[in-house]
Parts: sequence; structure tokens; C-alpha cells
Amino acid sequence: MLDTLLNRTSIPAVQLQEPAPNEEQLQRILSAGLCAPDHAAMRPWRFITISGDARNALGDVLARVAAQYEPDLPAEKIARTRQKPLRSPLIVVIVATITNDHPKTPVVEQILSAGAAATLIQLAATAEGFGSIWLTGPNTYRREVNEDLGITGDDQIVGFIYMGTASKPATSKPRPNLADHVTQWHGPKS
Ligand SMILES: Cc1cc2nc3c(=O)[nH]c(=O)nc-3n(C[C@H](O)[C@H](O)[C@H](O)COP(=O)(O)O)c2cc1C
Repeated sequence: MLDTLLNRTSIPAVQLQEPAPNEEQLQRILSAGLCAPDHAAMRPWRFITISGDARNALGDVLARVAAQYEPDLPAEKIARTRQKPLRSPLIVVIVATITNDHPKTPVVEQILSAGAAATLIQLAATAEGFGSIWLTGPNTYRREVNEDLGITGDDQIVGFIYMGTASKPATSKPRPNLADHVTQWHGPKS
């Protein structure tokens, strides 16, 4: 397990090809998301899968909303936005389902829990032999995109996990120096 954790790398969406996880594999992968740390057992997440022709529909939504927000966007860029969901055979949209004014769990913790679910889903995909990458971009946070995906209220997308079979083997990446990210605390400065 530690090897999987220490060697996981994202795969660029264009290098994620068919086959996508089959139904059984996908159930196992998404079930890992249900094991995310979760303050007060709120289950503040849901997962929307998009594959096949629905990816074209998502591309249409992304292109339409991008053009609406950025009227000067060149046609070629809009066309590229429309193609983005077609890069990989499967997209899992990770949604944080938000409860405002929860007595125990502030919204930031609900979003963090959804982020943890996204990470577990990526790790489970790795364990099942699939590649993935967590992508966002400005469209992620636009109301119209959320609405078309059936996301209502204050719920919000935390990411699009593109998933599929890596066309080339993942190469290990240099990671940051641990000492740059760790300190030991000995008590308040007097
Ligand atoms: C919330 C979030 C949003 C991200 N959005 C993008 C994105 O839109 N485009 C992108 O190239 N990488 C994005 N990334 C980063 C990639 O998922 C990936 O982590 C990065 O390419 C580094 O690769 P690694 O995971 O192998 O370290 C995002 C990561 C997170 C956590």
C-alpha cells in the first residue's frame, strides 16, 4: 500500500484511454470515496460519472458557458474546450454537498472531506490498475455548469477526475524535499 501511495502520479488526460474501469471495478473505486474522513458522519459528497456520449454533452455545456463568460474567447479555444471531456473514457465529478451552519462541521471541513474522497478515488483507481488526474478550471465554479450537471443549492464541484487506462507507463516524479514541509513544534515561543 505504501508503495502505491509513494509512487502514485497523475496521468495527463490525453494519455487516458479505453478501457475505462468496468462496472465492478468502478463500484470498488467509488466505494473508496465513501471511506473519506468525515466529521459528524455527514457524508458530504456525491460522485457523478460521465462516459460515452454524455462526454459530448458535457463538452457542449463547458463550451457554451466558457463563451458566455468570456465573449472574446477565440472560436478555436471554444472548440478545444468542447473537446476536453473526450480526452478520457470516464470522468467522475466529485461534488461537495454542503450544509451551511452545521453545529459541528464548518463548510470548509465538508469541502475537505469531499477532497479526501477525491484522493481516495484516485488511489483506488491506481490500485485497480487505472490512471487518473484531478482537473478543475474556471468552468468548475460557474453556476450554469453546476446547474446543467444537476448540482443545486450551495453544493459545489471540487474536481473532475478523468480516468482510464494509461497509454504509457507512469514514470515516478521528483517530489518535494520533506524537510521543506515538516517542522517539529516544541511549545509556544516565550
Ligand atoms: C483541486 C485541484 C485542482 C486541480 N486542477 C488542475 C487543473 O485544472 N489542471 C491541471 O493541469 N492540474 C490540476 N490539478 C493538479 C493535478 O491533478 C496533478 O495533481 C498535478 O498534475 C501533479 O501531478 P501529481 O498528482 O502526479 O503530483 C489540480 C489538483 C487539485 C488538487
